[in-house]
Amino acid sequence: MSERKRILVVDDEENLRHMLQVMLKKQGYQVDTAADGKQALERLQQGAYAFVLCDIRMPVMDGRSFLAACSEAGIGATVIMMSAYGSIDDAIDCMKLGAYDFISKPFNSEEITLVLKKAEERERLKDENRRLRNQVVGEYSFGEIVSRNARMGELFEMVQKLADHKTTVLVQGESGTGKELIARALHYQGVRRDAPFIAINCGAIPAALLESELFGHVKGAFTDASHDKAGLFEEADGGTLFLDEIAEMPLSLQVKLLRVLQEEEIRRLGAATSKRINVRVVSATSRDMAAEVAQGRFREDLYFRLNVFAITLPPLRERIEDVELLVDHFLDKHGERMGRGRVRPSPGALQALVRYHWPGNVRELENSIERGLILCESELLELSCLPETVRRGTGLGRRASDDGDSLSIKKAAEAMERALIGRALEQTGGNRTHAAKLLEISHRALLYKLKEYDLG
Ligand SMILES: Nc1ncnc2c1ncn2[C@@H]1O[C@H](COP(=O)(O)OP(=O)(O)OP(=O)(O)O)[C@@H](O)[C@H]1O
Ligand SMILES: [Mg+2]
Repeated sequence: MSERKRILVVDDEENLRHMLQVMLKKQGYQVDTAADGKQALERLQQGAYAFVLCDIRMPVMDGRSFLAACSEAGIGATVIMMSAYGSIDDAIDCMKLGAYDFISKPFNSEEITLVLKKAEERERLKDENRRLRNQVVGEYSFGEIVSRNARMGELFEMVQKLADHKTTVLVQGESGTGKELIARALHYQGVRRDAPFIAINCGAIPAALLESELFGHVKGAFTDASHDKAGLFEEADGGTLFLDEIAEMPLSLQVKLLRVLQEEEIRRLGAATSKRINVRVVSATSRDMAAEVAQGRFREDLYFRLNVFAITLPPLRERIEDVELLVDHFLDKHGERMGRGRVRPSPGALQALVRYHWPGNVRELENSIERGLILCESELLELSCLPETVRRGTGLGRRASDDGDSLSIKKAAEAMERALIGRALEQTGGNRTHAAKLLEISHRALLYKLKEYDLG
């Protein structure tokens, strides 16, 4: 990655833009320009800039409205205003609106350098503070999330960068990989942390209710609407709305959601007027969204809108190096809750844990550890305290791949999943809720798998 910092120069005077561009480039910055606030906003929505140098008086959208729009859009850029002689009051107003500093026109290159150096120093301190905050919890942790996997590390960095922006993010990954944790991190690591984080599982609410749940309704909008009710979009105003299992959203509602995202306005069911809202939307799915789109189950336009940024969490079996770390993490977490001392896995138990392919990912691992803690009484978590599936995981896997002619982990895992699901359904007489419990996956995850493997 390039070390050069990006600066956005916003001024309606072409000469000045050009002059600054040349000057800042010489100082090692990467420079882009915009002729008014509106253009600048578009640039900022497309990419991150370390600093924005912005004129106050401009046509179309002046500096002041630009600052207001930035804060509304949740863009946390460091903006330095450039004010013409005699408009110091304007500059001070701008600082109240969130500008970091100002510089009076005309200025020379040293003055600019000085202001930027100061701003850089502040950024450095901010980063440092953030790093220190995160380090307190442990070497590999990011908030509550622990990992030593390089891909996960990159994702954490991405989350850090995205946290302050309003960009919609789609978090993808198999069941139990930590999608909700990432969604929470996006909220709590960013400027919206003091506003609400509201989560809704689009698959768990009947389609008929989902609409009023999201958008609210007025009294009399339908038979049961005995009073006005705000929807979750309104409740999340200023904060983040987490739409979990987004692929489950009915097509009819997808259109409405798209409109809300585009217009940033919601209208309660049955209401005559709409209301502006400022909500960051993060959604999650364990499905292959591109396939959902291809099969006509999900609107392409909405998919693009939600997927401005995608974060895809690798399954646990693709980051085996995390298993031991997570085992210790959950042993400590649940051990403490149960008033137990420090418990560690026996070598045999650890071997089984590392070898197992974890179809239910981190959630399944956490459940296994929690259960194991109850079963084992010493400070050693023995193999015998682990669920049977984990103890025998490798045997099954070998059998499955022997059937085929490949070494594909994916195929073997699928075969094993089929077999385990079949067995669980047999044992529970076809009761899916109970089967999901035995399988240690969510009820929804089981439904997906039944569909995926044509077992339903
Ligand atoms: N890297 C991690 N470090 C610590 N805990 C984790 C990690 N990943 C997941 N967990 C824990 O595992 C559990 C499952 O995580 P989460 O609910 O975020 O997964 P999910 O992808 O949303 O699952 P689902 O698709 O089933 O909804 C949670 O209890 C979470 O705290
Ligand atoms: Mg979840």
